[in-house]
Amino acid sequence: MSLFRGVDHVGVGVADMEAAKAFYGRVGFSDVRFDYTGPVPGPDREARVVMLSNPGATPVGAGGIKLVQVLDGEGPPPAPTGGGWGELGICEICLHARGVTDVHRSLVAAGAGSLMDPLTAAVDPNDVSLDIAYVADPWGGKLELIEWTGLWHSLPGPARAEGVNHVAFGVKDMERARAFYEQLGFTEMLFESVDFFEPMAPWYPSGPPDQHMIMLLSSQGAGIEPVVLDPEGPDCRGEWGHIGPFDFAVGVTSLERGLEVLRGMGVETGEPVTLDVGGGEWRYASFRDPDDLYVSLVEARY
Ligand SMILES: [Fe+2]
Repeated sequence: MSLFRGVDHVGVGVADMEAAKAFYGRVGFSDVRFDYTGPVPGPDREARVVMLSNPGATPVGAGGIKLVQVLDGEGPPPAPTGGGWGELGICEICLHARGVTDVHRSLVAAGAGSLMDPLTAAVDPNDVSLDIAYVADPWGGKLELIEWTGLWHSLPGPARAEGVNHVAFGVKDMERARAFYEQLGFTEMLFESVDFFEPMAPWYPSGPPDQHMIMLLSSQGAGIEPVVLDPEGPDCRGEWGHIGPFDFAVGVTSLERGLEVLRGMGVETGEPVTLDVGGGEWRYASFRDPDDLYVSLVEARY
């Protein structure tokens, strides 16, 4: 088993935890792994953190969602503004789904806004087919729905959103990001696109930029989708815990061994943190990726 286990979860900042739990529960993230309120070292904030997983998750949608409500200071920092998609920062959570059209319809009925109607496409260089749609959660966070029909046949059963398939984020330098994350186990490139994805055009108020995106998979866990825009647009990293998707964690079998690898790469890392989350431990350490995004290693013991 490899040390790195792909993306374990994506963090979403919320202002109303109960409303967010209810919405994401309807999306399928009904399993509360822990519900913690207290100090969160690393970012050094007081917060309520609810770690959710989807009992219907499959190997192509293995990631969970971490809801974070910042409690100290002014409360949850506001969502960064002025971005469309792919500016510096976390811009999207993608859920694998069985039956994208039906899931899109059911999420809109559950309070999400439609951002892109379902469509079918295929991506280079492996000509992998997919069904895709986008919704916004009630707080504006972008949720992509994908069924990788050319990669995976979903398990039987009704249409449903499964777990997180990948997290998308803007970077400044694609080769630098790729070389960095390859060392953290994201070694397989599922697709690369340098053509503007036309259905996203309405998302860019000042006109569509050039887009370069790739999707990198680890042998386990969820994948990553770094994006470079030209022109690059506003810095949408925001503060830790801001409303909307704001961070992600890479799973490791051993936090200490993972930190050794990062330090060997010359990466600045925080100290390992172990929090008692009632019946388990949340073990993580924060680090700075080349674009100073909010990323952590997590050794899940919950
Ligand atoms: Fe995506």
